[in-house]
Amino acid sequence: MRERVAPHHDQAGELRRIVESRRRGVRGLSGLRSIAVLSGKGGVGKSNLAVNLAMALSKTGKRVVILDADLGMANVDLLCGISPKYTLAHLVKGQRSVDEVLVALDNGVLLLPGGPGVQELAELGDDAQSLLIDKLAALEGVADILLIDTGAGIHRNTLSFGVAADLTILITTPEPTSIRDAYGVLKTLAINTGSKIEITLVVNMATSRSEGSEVAERIQMAANQFLSLSVAYGGAILLDENVGKAVRMRIPFFLANPTCQASRDIAALAAELARIDDEVEPPAGRGVKSFFFRLARSLGLGG
Ligand SMILES: Nc1ncnc2c1ncn2[C@@H]1O[C@H](COP(=O)(O)OP(=O)(O)OP(=O)(O)O)[C@@H](O)[C@H]1O
Ligand SMILES: [Mg+2]
Repeated sequence: MRERVAPHHDQAGELRRIVESRRRGVRGLSGLRSIAVLSGKGGVGKSNLAVNLAMALSKTGKRVVILDADLGMANVDLLCGISPKYTLAHLVKGQRSVDEVLVALDNGVLLLPGGPGVQELAELGDDAQSLLIDKLAALEGVADILLIDTGAGIHRNTLSFGVAADLTILITTPEPTSIRDAYGVLKTLAINTGSKIEITLVVNMATSRSEGSEVAERIQMAANQFLSLSVAYGGAILLDENVGKAVRMRIPFFLANPTCQASRDIAALAAELARIDDEVEPPAGRGVKSFFFRLARSLGLGG
């Protein structure tokens, strides 16, 4: 049970109903696909992308859980007008179950608030960690996609989500500082993965489609040439005043204004990711347990 600020949100009973109705069992061999949202510079739109992409993916029929893994301040709850009572930290301490920590957002999207739990995950011993990851495996039955909102920067723990996830969405704006920092993230990810990493670049707050493409081409060329990294381009999300308006209302813009430019751009990105999820088998050994094991290892644990 958790407090809700906005009256239109589900009550705990409805959350249980959603979770139960979604336990369709583990799909195929591939398991849940993890997608981390990263940026170099802060404030470039990661949390807005994570929340609204989750809503848009849900509309395509994908079951989505957002993990709010910002190691500093939680963001997703603010954007959705909710106030979760429990976080991953309660799960880590064994005080709450996965079902109790999950919060139902609109469109059937679920939120797993990370809070201090992300850091605590890094500090667990091997046995406690395995136990926790067994519990987190419950997510496998309720989600096709785990979408992870991270904090900014090249902090090791933030980048660990990129290393561990099946796919990383890297966000930049057209500003030179943001581009430079995005490249810094690419460099660190390339070094830590031997350039074996799936990255989709999104240019947010572009003033035109062509500005977005130009920024993407520059980053793609540099990544290719200097990092042996092939970066996909997921398109631009144009600068749209409706985003700020929705943030102030604490409603995701995809719900507040489904036809605004930013919503249409997000819908296009969601359609492409849904297609990838349908058609491209993730590499072997994926799924929620292996994601969390990889994460714990790259957070500096597990040998
Ligand atoms: N496409 C857009 N058009 C206009 N404004 C936008 C757009 N995307 C994001 N913004 C604005 O940018 C601000 C920062 O967005 P957001 O909080 O999602 O960034 P962030 O990368 O998660 O930040 P942090 O690094 O602090 O977590 C928001 O308040 C929002 O109003
Ligand atoms: Mg954020």
